Amino acid sequence: MFDAKQFLKENVDWIRQEVGDEKAIVAASGGVDSSVTAVLGFKALGDKLTVVFLDNGLMREGEPETVTKIFKDMGIETKLYDVKEKFFQAMKNLTDPEEKRKAFRQTFYESLANVARERGVKILLQGTIAADVSETVRGVKSQHNVLEQIGINPIQEFGYRIIEPVKELYKPEVRQLAKELKLPESIVNRKPFPGPALSVRVIGEITPEKIGIVRKATKIVEDESKDLPSFQVFAVLLNDKATGLTEKGERAYGNIIVIRAVDSKDAMTAEPTKIQWDRLLRMKNRLVSEIPGVSRVLYDITSKPPATIEFE
Ligand code: XMP
Repeated sequence: MFDAKQFLKENVDWIRQEVGDEKAIVAASGGVDSSVTAVLGFKALGDKLTVVFLDNGLMREGEPETVTKIFKDMGIETKLYDVKEKFFQAMKNLTDPEEKRKAFRQTFYESLANVARERGVKILLQGTIAADVSETVRGVKSQHNVLEQIGINPIQEFGYRIIEPVKELYKPEVRQLAKELKLPESIVNRKPFPGPALSVRVIGEITPEKIGIVRKATKIVEDESKDLPSFQVFAVLLNDKATGLTEKGERAYGNIIVIRAVDSKDAMTAEPTKIQWDRLLRMKNRLVSEIPGVSRVLYDITSKPPATIEFE
């Protein structure tokens, strides 16, 4: 049985020892893994820790503001860095999912290296969990936050050491820690969201316009599924188009949005949620009426395996 209290006690001491007289940074994304790591780090290090939010332009609607506010309410200041341009530039012309992920990962760590240099910091605290490591090492997906486990030395590459206090835990245990740390309900129960954010929810090359479309679709699908106990519910913008009709009866060649909802315990396997037809129709109505250029909506009924949860 996992003992959250004991884990926290041991790990606060461990982080303190590891960091010693130095300072550290941690990148918060608003997800439960990085939030637990940030609060754990703050407990151990206080002002010696800077919580950073990288606004990469790929986040969901209002995310930078929401995350900053949640931390502020817990008495933790976050430093917001606008790195949108850098991310779109780095991912320009990339269509292969693994290349996109690797470009995201490189830009993510470079951005943090700039912050670390600027603040004279040589330690990064990171909320990598066991599922991230196992999928990357098995070659399923290169998660954005896995380096040492695949032979990349962060000190040589980026100039900082990485400390990962929750790397042996899975999602349910991290949620127990979040509860024990008295993180707000919205974080404790926050559904998983991939590190590379909406970049993996646009198939093929990402552009600010396509990210804008999937951001709107994400908001609609999330709004309409707040009371659904699924592990994750999200929208994906396909790279194809499909023929449709405008309200005036003219031909339209429009975007295709996929709704994906899965039930899962730890993301290692998943089943499609049996969403009620009415709810799916409500989502479809809003997607086609509120997002210009969307002419078709699909629901993904594949389990993991053979599919993965995300499309990329
Ligand atoms: P897949 O798509 O591999 O996803 O079935 C398993 C879980 O991991 C999330 N995911 C990611 N999380 N960085 C992350 O931090 C990533 O690159 C990444 N890719 C997928 C996914 O949302 C699901 O919960």
